[in-house]
Amino acid sequence: MKVTVSRKAHFNAAHRLYRSDWDDERNNSVFGKCSNKNFHGHNYELIVSVRGEIDSETGYVIDMKTLKDLIKFEIEEAFDHKNLNIEVSDFQNLNPTAENIVVVIYNKLFKHMQDDHDLEVVLYETPRNFVKYSGQ
Ligand code: NI
Repeated sequence: MKVTVSRKAHFNAAHRLYRSDWDDERNNSVFGKCSNKNFHGHNYELIVSVRGEIDSETGYVIDMKTLKDLIKFEIEEAFDHKNLNIEVSDFQNLNPTAENIVVVIYNKLFKHMQDDHDLEVVLYETPRNFVKYSGQ
């Protein structure tokens, strides 16, 4: 019997979408206001889901405390109140779009997952815009 356990989290971060190998005109035409040189912020909301068998001894799929601490350590402490382009090494050479951010978050959490657990991450960049990644 497989059950999905989810935990919500959030972080505030600034970013700018651009490619250094493109000129301003091309960056502006592709990324629009998101390419503003002075950066802009988002209140990112995160839903991390772990799917697996219920452990017969504990009754848990994963201890929520474990999941909470993992998100806090790997994601919140790394991203919260940061400028993603400047302060987070994962985005030194990677455009911090919601798509790329969700993959980075997934990879940071995935390395802690048990082999028989499936991970899925949903990232809201705004209340209306969100992306989802579950590997592959
Ligand atoms: Ni943005």
